Amino acid sequence: MKKITKAVIPAAGFGTRFLPFTKAVPKEMLPIIDTPAIEYNVREAINSGITDIVIIISPDKECIRTHFHHNEQFENFLIKRGKQHELDIITEMPRIVNIKFVYQLEQLGLGHAVLCAKEFVGDDDFALLLGDDMYVGDNGPVLKDLITAYQEKECSILGTLEVTDDEVSRYGICDPIGEEVSGIVKLKGVIEKPKLEDAPSNLAIGGRYILTNKIFDYLMNQASGAGGEIQLTDSILRLMDKEEVYSYRIKGKRYDIGSKVGFLKATIEFALSRDDLKDDIKSIINNV
Ligand code: G1P
Repeated sequence: MKKITKAVIPAAGFGTRFLPFTKAVPKEMLPIIDTPAIEYNVREAINSGITDIVIIISPDKECIRTHFHHNEQFENFLIKRGKQHELDIITEMPRIVNIKFVYQLEQLGLGHAVLCAKEFVGDDDFALLLGDDMYVGDNGPVLKDLITAYQEKECSILGTLEVTDDEVSRYGICDPIGEEVSGIVKLKGVIEKPKLEDAPSNLAIGGRYILTNKIFDYLMNQASGAGGEIQLTDSILRLMDKEEVYSYRIKGKRYDIGSKVGFLKATIEFALSRDDLKDDIKSIINNV
């Protein structure tokens, strides 16, 4: 059984939906309570068995690297003050996972961002997690379910969710063929951000993928597509000529933290699930 141990997390894009905040601070660093959004996806990857992660950043997003690396000065300060709990918090990430950073110097699209990870990925198949999509899985981390589906089908797996008609034009949409069994179905096509009349279904790609290494053959010469960007979805469509691709219906709750409402929803619901905050938050909500 082939293992998936590497994950790619693109984080180089501009965060136009959260301006003016994102002029100086990457949207991936928006805090869901006290933890940057990107750390939730890193934890999902770790809890799914991933041991090596590459985060694709742009040069003005160095603070993401700072967040995941050791900060000796800060650590020494906490040691001197005897603040063991705080020390444990800031040293956990660098201790438990190997995170590398690769620069995407031009924002040419998701396909281009993934291509930037080619050297890191080497000959392996890999996981891809997109930052705007955050999940609380029904049975633990959702990426783990995708890895299980990959091991069963031995091919690329796209994590999907059902979207409404007015949402299809914001997603990559799948064209399933045949019978869906336990949420897994074979695909005969995918189309990036189609108009409703061109959408083959309401099954949208939900920001979680397991991709075979072959995808790089297509990404290397991928022409630009929807929005003038180099689209991963277009390369996945071409991959289907050579290999089977399946989708897996994600079992869990999704937060679109790239939108203001989704971000606030995640913040409120996560606060309500925390023992140190839930009573105060409930009383604030009741008063409102
Ligand atoms: C990207 C993908 C799209 C996918 C979506 C999920 O689009 O290109 O296929 O459905 O993420 O969030 P983006 O939202 O980056 O435009």
